[in-house]
Amino acid sequence: MSFDLVFFGGTGDLTWRKLMPALFQAWRHGKLPAQGRILAVARDERSDASYRQWLKDKLTSGDDLAKRPTEDEFERFAALVHYLRMDLSQPGDYAVLRQWLQTRQADTVVMYLATSPHLFPVICEQLGAAGLNHPAVRVVLEKPLGHDLASAQAINRAVGAVFSERQALRIDHYLGKPSVQNLMALRFGNVLFEPLWRRESIANIQITLAESLGVGTRGDFYDRTGALRDMVQNHALQLLTMVAMEPPSSADADAIRDEKLKVLRSLKPFDAASVARDVVRGQYRAGTVGGMSVPGYLDEAKVPAGSHTETFVALRCEVQNWRWAGVPFYLRTGKRLAHRHAEIVVNFRPTPHSIFPGTQPPNQLVIKLQPDDGLQLHLLAAKGALGPDLAGDHQAEHLSPVSLDLDFDKAFPTDRVGAYERMLLDALAGRLNLFVRSDEQEQAWRWVEPILEAWRHDGSGLKTYSAGTWGPAAASALVARDGFAWAEES
Ligand code: BG6
Repeated sequence: MSFDLVFFGGTGDLTWRKLMPALFQAWRHGKLPAQGRILAVARDERSDASYRQWLKDKLTSGDDLAKRPTEDEFERFAALVHYLRMDLSQPGDYAVLRQWLQTRQADTVVMYLATSPHLFPVICEQLGAAGLNHPAVRVVLEKPLGHDLASAQAINRAVGAVFSERQALRIDHYLGKPSVQNLMALRFGNVLFEPLWRRESIANIQITLAESLGVGTRGDFYDRTGALRDMVQNHALQLLTMVAMEPPSSADADAIRDEKLKVLRSLKPFDAASVARDVVRGQYRAGTVGGMSVPGYLDEAKVPAGSHTETFVALRCEVQNWRWAGVPFYLRTGKRLAHRHAEIVVNFRPTPHSIFPGTQPPNQLVIKLQPDDGLQLHLLAAKGALGPDLAGDHQAEHLSPVSLDLDFDKAFPTDRVGAYERMLLDALAGRLNLFVRSDEQEQAWRWVEPILEAWRHDGSGLKTYSAGTWGPAAASALVARDGFAWAEES
């Protein structure tokens, strides 16, 4: 298969931090089809050679030494990489792009829009006008897709006027994380868990996406966005759909996406009262993370004085259907938390009747997304080799917690691919399972809008938390109210 992969925003942060490194790894792993060309598009005047040199400086100074290319590897990879200067509002520049693409007819052309989303409509319109929306073309849209339902719908309409739904790939890189694939495998490739995967056996489910980093150099973007739009509307809700969905009838993209959409539609809607009760928002103050003193959000570069933007959200929600009625789902995400750590915790109910002494922690399944990637099942076991105790009580065997640990990095050491690598390869191959359909994305906006609305009318609820902690105390209280605790507190 031959492909042309065009990166709009070719000199932007996302391209050099995530996309090019992921492509390089795909190439290094021998997963990129041989007949490929990569074209970076941006506004500056550059030659192929100067773009390659710029890219080389970025890739060879990456934090992870094992991922840096050697001199020879970079030379061979760079032979695929080209550069084109474009003004995205100029039809003539799209004609030049068309000519470049027509120097050969690739089987697949992927246009990756790694630009600000306000440019998506104009880019799609111009691509369409230049005839660059034929069936071999797919367009990948990076988040954030809009800042509310209306703006997301406007973008989807503009994209939909040019590309069919199956040509438009909305990326949520959390779905590309290997553990999320394993959640599907665990649920639908094994018989063990499905009978227990319901309200009768599960007490609550917790999804935590914690970051230790602050807003870095993105203070202005982040301040307009906040944690609810940046992480909850997309990543956290997508993970929730993967946990809560019914078994799809096949692995076909739409069979899966139909089930995810049903979950989003079953989420109990918020109103002003439930937002005040069930949603906690916070903003970090100065503190210590990993032994280093770090400034508070209001002192970060490009953050306006007195900003009320939330850097932390914790919320309680419910999926209103037969499987999940009454089971709380707690979602939590934040910047500058104690450490970088993303996981889904499924807390099972206690045994209905105990024959063992002492209190026993119920079973817990932890799906670890990062930094490690694996599954942990917490069980209780008898240590064994205990005789009857002196009081002659033969039942006095105390149980001890043990865990079954599955470390996917160790189990499959050579087959692991990163989230962006996986998503890029899927985009090139036209595998749509992990991309978000427009109706899912709009439904997610519909669900978060009452929260945004309530916050607009009531600026008083913003709590503070010290950097390096697990967020405001109110987040613990939210879970404690139901008689539960966050995983790290239990
Ligand atoms: C992005 C958010 O979508 O995800 C960032 O915009 C966040 O603010 C990032 O830092 C987290 O991704 P990961 O894969 O590093 O957990």
